[in-house]
Amino acid sequence: MYSVDCSGCPIVEVPQRSRVSGLNGVAKSESAILTRIAALLVPHPRGYTLPQALYCDPDIFELDLRRIFYRNWLFVGHISQIPRAGDFITYEIGGESLVLLRTRAGSIRALFNVCRHRGARICNHPAGHMSALVCPYHQWTYDLDGTLVAARNCGADFDANGCSLAPASVRVTEGFIFVCLDGPPPDFTVVEQDLHQHLTLHELEGVRVCHTRSYLVRANWKLLDENARECFHCAGSHPEYCGAVMSAGATTPREVELAAHIQAEKEAEWRFLGFDVRQKPFAPGTFHSVSRYALRPGVVTESLDGQPVAPRLGGLPTLDAGVVGIGIYPSLLAETCSDYAVTLRFTPRAVDITEVEMAWLVRSDAKEHEDYEIDRLTAVWRATAEQDWKLCELNQLGVRSTRYRPGPYASNEWGCRHFIDWYLEELVGRPSLTASPSRSIAREP
Ligand code: FES
Ligand code: FE
Repeated sequence: MYSVDCSGCPIVEVPQRSRVSGLNGVAKSESAILTRIAALLVPHPRGYTLPQALYCDPDIFELDLRRIFYRNWLFVGHISQIPRAGDFITYEIGGESLVLLRTRAGSIRALFNVCRHRGARICNHPAGHMSALVCPYHQWTYDLDGTLVAARNCGADFDANGCSLAPASVRVTEGFIFVCLDGPPPDFTVVEQDLHQHLTLHELEGVRVCHTRSYLVRANWKLLDENARECFHCAGSHPEYCGAVMSAGATTPREVELAAHIQAEKEAEWRFLGFDVRQKPFAPGTFHSVSRYALRPGVVTESLDGQPVAPRLGGLPTLDAGVVGIGIYPSLLAETCSDYAVTLRFTPRAVDITEVEMAWLVRSDAKEHEDYEIDRLTAVWRATAEQDWKLCELNQLGVRSTRYRPGPYASNEWGCRHFIDWYLEELVGRPSLTASPSRSIAREP
């Protein structure tokens, strides 16, 4: 695992063997790969981890990019990263690069970072400000909306129409920016409704990124998604997180019962205060989850001592607002307490390398050293994330062994099964096959 403490993405040196193609790139016949996957899945029972090749094979990784990452909504950042017209961030996924920028009209656009003259990459910085997009090769110049406005030596009859930069789909919801590279994008309406329901009082449009941290985790992206979909491992691995979140550390039936009791009590309190606490867990056919859950008694945020580490967010009527957990396949895990939010963006870089960019967000008027300290603000999630990346790397080491075989998810790993079902549906157009084995211990929550 490598980490970079920075305000932008690190330069990622990806091994030559893992260089990947863009939207149209096909390393090998797609039908041959699909035939191979179908053969791998025929004996694969529902409720089990995937066959080895789906975690380790570079050709299947290419298919993951084309069928999962180019076709779904990807979280890229927060609106506070591009507040003024001309501010931009870039985002790279597979062989594609996007420029996310604020237009003069105040909207946010996503443009493919590919010049319409001879195809050079235009913008080569992770973030910054520009008055126009100027290609470094022959200086074709584009307005912030992607329209070509200058092209030298192209003759009087040159028609600039049709030479705008190619756009990608963009949605901004509760301050979070999502893009989809290859249309038509999935319907995002319910996701937006559920995010709004749970986050409206947090007013996340009014926060700003105060700290980022990037990691290169030596594991296939699906192992990170699976890890994020269960808290079976929490009690044994996350002392800081379990010190804050009531249900995370509950292992015995008595502890589980107590956590459920406190959750019910808190929900009643929150409802009285005006929160809409209808939980939206991952459900069949969905690719998102938003839930508010209780912290331990006396704990009001995810900090080492349970006390606030930043000013209260937005219009929350109480500091004791629990934590809202958000998951959106395939690239976002986020949580927000009453004083800060944290986002984890998963970007696959190779079949066995996943980049995670973490961002911490506080109220836009909060001042470092007066209202918050970075070390205190980030302590719980920094520890928790680094513990997770080690587990994911150990998982990758195991799944590449000759003795690896798919194993059964436990009953409290139902989120992993949901993720695998969604993944296989997206990859090969059908859920994770066949009936559950008779000895399966997996079940719905
Ligand atoms: Fe961009 Fe020539 S490739 S101006
Ligand atoms: Fe974890």
